[in-house]
Amino acid sequence: MSVNNKNNPKIAVIGCGNWGKNLMRVLHQLGALCAVCDTDPNKADDFSKQYQVPALSFHNILSMPEVDGIVIATPSTTHFELGMTALKANKHIFIEKPLALRAQHAQSLHQLAKQQRKIVMVGHLLQYHSVFNTLKKLKQDGVLGQLQTIYCNRLNFGKFRSEESVLWDYAPHDVSMTLALVGDMPNQVSAVSANHLDHTSVDSARIHLHFESNIQAHLFVSWLYPFKEQKMIVVGSKAMAVFDDCQLWENKLMLSPYPAEWVDGLPRPFPYAGEKVIIERSEPLQNECSHFLDCIRENLQPKTNAIEGCNVLTVLEAASQSMATRLPVNLPYPAEQGISKQADIPLSEVVLEGTL
Ligand SMILES: NC(=O)c1ccc[n+]([C@@H]2O[C@H](COP(=O)([O-])OP(=O)(O)OC[C@H]3O[C@@H](n4cnc5c(N)ncnc54)[C@H](O)[C@@H]3O)[C@@H](O)[C@H]2O)c1
Repeated sequence: MSVNNKNNPKIAVIGCGNWGKNLMRVLHQLGALCAVCDTDPNKADDFSKQYQVPALSFHNILSMPEVDGIVIATPSTTHFELGMTALKANKHIFIEKPLALRAQHAQSLHQLAKQQRKIVMVGHLLQYHSVFNTLKKLKQDGVLGQLQTIYCNRLNFGKFRSEESVLWDYAPHDVSMTLALVGDMPNQVSAVSANHLDHTSVDSARIHLHFESNIQAHLFVSWLYPFKEQKMIVVGSKAMAVFDDCQLWENKLMLSPYPAEWVDGLPRPFPYAGEKVIIERSEPLQNECSHFLDCIRENLQPKTNAIEGCNVLTVLEAASQSMATRLPVNLPYPAEQGISKQADIPLSEVVLEGTL
């Protein structure tokens, strides 16, 4: 069912593939979907009929003044060019992850958006997941104590992509969550990879991030794994938390406080698996799309804006470099590259007029 709200921004979705269909469904439910587009006319026609909106060319959509925003859910190799073209046509843009394939491109998108006074939002979906946001709150409220180590696993058998490696496909989510949790950029990135399947594209990668505050993060992404695993484990000085997105909603976040007692100079192992954290259920994609509409309506910077996207791409570029050279890459705090050190920008503090 679609919500009919006259004040809703009007949004066109470019790319009616596996993920685009979810975005179209939610934007339709929110009463914002106004047109669809795909280079495959059959796909665009199917969704045009399903949602009773026109299937149009990208060019036609950009020429329509009533279209406020463009959602780009095409392969990553097209994100930068489609995003720049849409900004030049004076549209707000939401680009699926990864924002682009070079951090420099994220900066160009950011600069153009600033000139055009338009929004760039990147689809780092987990930032709109209420379980991740509860985990972040546990950290902010001091329940976890000092962060020590973060482990992220994002593993599955496929979907294999030819246009990018598993690093650029899966890791944006984990890098985005890690930067938001730590609230900083790493000062060193090292990574190793494997390409067992076709011997050209990386199908498995381990990335290690070291932060100035001595926090370490270990990210493992793979397309060559026998089952789906999407887990983030956070070890703090007071408690450990496990966000397991493959569990039923009520089991997605478990918290294990440290045992109170030490035995023979060692902490006694947990007597139980941890306690469930009760969180109100909501659909992350609905939260994400609603956020894009709110930002357009209220002239706000998205939580995952071009700067956040640029920070993520900077880490991915460093990981790619480390994989190629087999050496760690030191990241300068990149004031000279125009990237904010702040990984998580509170919505209320940054409006479009602000300098980023
Ligand atoms: N946020 C998430 O959790 C999530 C999950 C899956 C995919 N994604 C992202 O969504 C994007 C799309 O992935 P997918 O799995 O849907 O891919 P897909 O290959 O299933 O779909 C891409 C669609 O884009 C169309 N297309 C290609 N170039 C186009 C162009 N220039 N103009 C219009 N249409 C064009 C293709 O015909 C295809 O229908 C990728 O960036 C991917 O990383 C995000």
